[in-house]
Amino acid sequence: MKATTTPSTSTPVAHNALPPPSATSTARSSRIAPHSHIKGLGLTAEGIAAPDGAGFIGQTNAREACGVVVDLIKSRKFSGRALLLVGAPGTGKTALALAVSHELGAKVPFCPMVGSEVYSTEVKKTEVLAEAFRRAIGLRIKETKEVYEGEVTELTPTESENPLSGYGKTVSHVIVGLKTVKGTKQLRLDPTIYEAILKEKIVVGDVIYVEANTGAVKRVGRSDAYASSYDLESETYVPLPKGDVHKRKELVQDVTLGDLDAANARPQGGQDIMSVMGSLMKSGRTEVTDKLRREVNKVVKGYVDQGVAEVVPGVVFIDEVHMLDIECFTYLNALLESAMAPTVILATNRGNALVRGTTDVVSPHGIPVDLLDRCLIVKTDGYKPEQIAKVVQLRANIEGLKLGSGVLERIAEEGERGSMRYALQLLSPASILAGLAGRSQIEVEDIAEMNELFLDAKTSASNIGADGGFDGGRMS
Ligand SMILES: Nc1ncnc2c1ncn2[C@@H]1O[C@H](COP(=O)(O)OP(=O)(O)OP(=O)(O)O)[C@@H](O)[C@H]1O
Ligand SMILES: [Mg+2]
Repeated sequence: MKATTTPSTSTPVAHNALPPPSATSTARSSRIAPHSHIKGLGLTAEGIAAPDGAGFIGQTNAREACGVVVDLIKSRKFSGRALLLVGAPGTGKTALALAVSHELGAKVPFCPMVGSEVYSTEVKKTEVLAEAFRRAIGLRIKETKEVYEGEVTELTPTESENPLSGYGKTVSHVIVGLKTVKGTKQLRLDPTIYEAILKEKIVVGDVIYVEANTGAVKRVGRSDAYASSYDLESETYVPLPKGDVHKRKELVQDVTLGDLDAANARPQGGQDIMSVMGSLMKSGRTEVTDKLRREVNKVVKGYVDQGVAEVVPGVVFIDEVHMLDIECFTYLNALLESAMAPTVILATNRGNALVRGTTDVVSPHGIPVDLLDRCLIVKTDGYKPEQIAKVVQLRANIEGLKLGSGVLERIAEEGERGSMRYALQLLSPASILAGLAGRSQIEVEDIAEMNELFLDAKTSASNIGADGGFDGGRMS
């Protein structure tokens, strides 16, 4: 390998070697999600959209329409149909879909995907769709179980000489002391449970429960006796459990049909629906057949009839839906009409387009008319500069950037020329330019320099000559 010596260091460095990991790269702050400012639709109790609410600026018609759909979903009158969001790029379609999911509540399963996700070499297209639909149907299971619950007072693995392997010791059992308000108990548990304890990172002072017949271990939280010593932690503190250590306890667990399918695709034995959950941790993908789905449905129906479980229909969100092809669309029609279907939200920014997988079917949004027929269509509108300015200000606050005077107006102008997304995307590079110039605040000249460095989509398109190339050079 060719080695060059850089003047700054005396050690030879391989020409294209990666730079050594710096201390700061590990301490990188987490990426800021582009929709983190959206908290909901921001509607009043009467369903009227305030000009800005819950992080949403403008777009009042679309927000009110989505509010109606949320009401329909909540009163379970939206089956067999889909919500289709259409509009130009960067007008907030994805943001609207996220807001709808926020409005439905945290416990309602939300399964987002992009149209192109169906194209995989391993799994059939229809299978990907079917799986997404199954993952969007939740099941709330209530079961009374025999458990040992308490605050961990002692955690001692006992090692013994392993007669089979020549070296080392193995854990033969683990002693766990549990304490409740009423008393304490010492349990002698199997080494497999010790593994589960390690996996859940359980330490002395945590409140846990161990299921008596499956041995599943669950960490409830940290005992609040320890609360003062960990002030700055994002930890859930729970009171010392009441009653005996050994008792019957009602457990509520939220799973999705997709989880159940996956868990049962690798048979573990045992008819108990909760014990099936334990196997979720084991990875490996096995084909989920229709037969298996029917079996799971049958078991689920049994549980629902007994009143043990409750079905919670969720939402499937398919972004860039024009990327689906005709096979997927027909399958989608069928899925929409199946007995246990979640709510479907679709989004696209295409106008009239060829339906993928066909050679001559052109239809609005690239969606065949029979599916369009089943859709409630909501259109998103473009933004005025002052609305763009408000969103930019919101994002600047969230990203912790300071804007100098006139910057907001300037970015809003850019946004009107380009798009809302372009305006938002100017923020972070502009802050880097400001940082290079030794300022902590973004000024108008940073935005001006940005325009020299980068192009928005429309400017870039207008630079391309009539022959489709740059300066006569064709791009192919
Ligand atoms: N009305 C609004 N209020 C606040 N933020 C918005 C609004 N509309 C869009 N945004 C923000 O603008 C950015 C672009 O919007 P979004 O990604 O939802 O566009 P889109 O319609 O899905 O575009 P595309 O068709 O390209 O997928 C996002 O960061 C979004 O949160
Ligand atoms: Mg989008």
